[in-house]
Amino acid sequence: SQNEKESLFIVLEYAQQYFAETMANTEEGQSVGQSYFIERGFSKAAIEKFQLGYALDSRNEFVKKAEKAGFSSDILEKAGLISVKEGDVKIDRFRGRVIFPIHNVAGKPIAFGARILKTDPKAPKYINSPETEIYHKSQIVYGIYQAKNAIRQADNCYLVEGYTDVVSLHQAGIENVVASSGTSLTPEQVRLIRRFSDNITVLYDGDAAGIKASLRGIDIILEEDMNVKSVVFPDGDDPDSYIRKVGGAAFSEYVKNHQKNFINFKTELSLADVGDDAIKKAELIADLVSSITKIPNPIKRSVFYQEVAKMLQIDENILINEGNKIVKTKI
Ligand code: UTP
Ligand code: MN
Ligand code: MN
Ligand code: MN
Ligand code: MN
Repeated sequence: SQNEKESLFIVLEYAQQYFAETMANTEEGQSVGQSYFIERGFSKAAIEKFQLGYALDSRNEFVKKAEKAGFSSDILEKAGLISVKEGDVKIDRFRGRVIFPIHNVAGKPIAFGARILKTDPKAPKYINSPETEIYHKSQIVYGIYQAKNAIRQADNCYLVEGYTDVVSLHQAGIENVVASSGTSLTPEQVRLIRRFSDNITVLYDGDAAGIKASLRGIDIILEEDMNVKSVVFPDGDDPDSYIRKVGGAAFSEYVKNHQKNFINFKTELSLADVGDDAIKKAELIADLVSSITKIPNPIKRSVFYQEVAKMLQIDENILINEGNKIVKTKI
């Protein structure tokens, strides 16, 4: 209900402030949380801009405080702030982790991502809020509130995988950036970005998982009638680690020199594999044609058919015929 949504916004705002104050004003918050961010190279300004925080390593410090402040355990649970409830024992969902609040387009916190401090094979690196009445993971991208004006101004949006990539790029002055937060990109997320620009540049992690996710993301973006480019980072780097290594100027230069439209991106990825193998070449062509059929705009479609025809030396009409077959079988 509308009333319940309002209560959720209020309790999430309270929680966000609690985590930020815990990091700024408690001994544990400073020596553990703040130190973690500072060791990663995050500035005070970046910490404030993204309202980063810290959750104490305690069973229920947060719940106790929130209940004392007048929030019912029912609303705390609905907000995703309680992890288990055994009778009267309510445990904080986020414990001993640094906190990344997730804001909606209007800048209100609607969820949290919480990172573990030290790598531990037995614990998940991030614990995130569950779906709630105001948080639908598939409909939001991390950082949209902080990025929206810059996306509009640059008429381009960088899409990264992680929370830390967003914060790091902002700190280096690159503010038109949002994160899909490690899950498959959805049409709703793409439409949210499209409110600010028609252009997306995918900057996923330079590993097999990142490349695979880029390929999936490309088709989703094309289907929403947007323009997409992709950049592959050196193996093992993500935008955060790469920009820390080389600095903002060299990062931008790298992106400028390595961004490729989806046809060149896919072709170069599989070219090493294809060689003069006719079957593999046919598979690549089928894959490219399949992506082109996702583009709603017929003029753009035609331009890309021409490009593939030229690049892979194949008759354009054959490509168009193949594309039309795919579209027909879909209907
Ligand atoms: P990564 O594993 O690439 O983490 O996951 P990262 O963002 O680079 O973080 P650091 O640099 O190791 O600290 C990318 C994103 O996937 C989501 C998070 O949103 C993360 O930022 N993710 C990852 C989870 O939700 N849960 C996980 O356990 C791991
Ligand atoms: Mn990764
Ligand atoms: Mn669609
Ligand atoms: Mn990283
Ligand atoms: Mn990463």
